[in-house]
Amino acid sequence: MNIREKLFESAQRAAANAYCPYSRFAVGAAVYADDGRIYCGCNVENVSYPVGTCAESGAIAAMVCGGGRKIIEMIIFADANKLVSPCGACRQRIKEFSAENTLVHLADAGGIRKTFTIDELLPFSF
Ligand code: THU
Repeated sequence: MNIREKLFESAQRAAANAYCPYSRFAVGAAVYADDGRIYCGCNVENVSYPVGTCAESGAIAAMVCGGGRKIIEMIIFADANKLVSPCGACRQRIKEFSAENTLVHLADAGGIRKTFTIDELLPFSF
């Protein structure tokens, strides 16, 4: 299994653990970091809705805590009719830990459907 296949499997597995009783929209994110490791996150909702966190946020926090500092590539996964694309806040979070060639893949159960650079997702960023 190559690293992208492992990343996909990790994102899919993360989504299966999502805590999303309010939206019922499970999202998983997996980051392949500059330390050669894969870090995952899922969305974690809360009865106080704004307190909920996105899958990307969890994966990035895990990466930073584990010692990773740059995202080489990442996959955002949802088993849904519509591809899941990171929210504005998460685009900024991804940007913080991206290099020029960092790739963000959007995936569903069929695999990777679209790939973007962070500059495409967040042009002219701060
Ligand atoms: N969500 C993510 O975790 N990542 C995204 O990129 C988009 C949305 C979550 C937030 C919320 O728990 C649920 O999906 C529905 O919006």
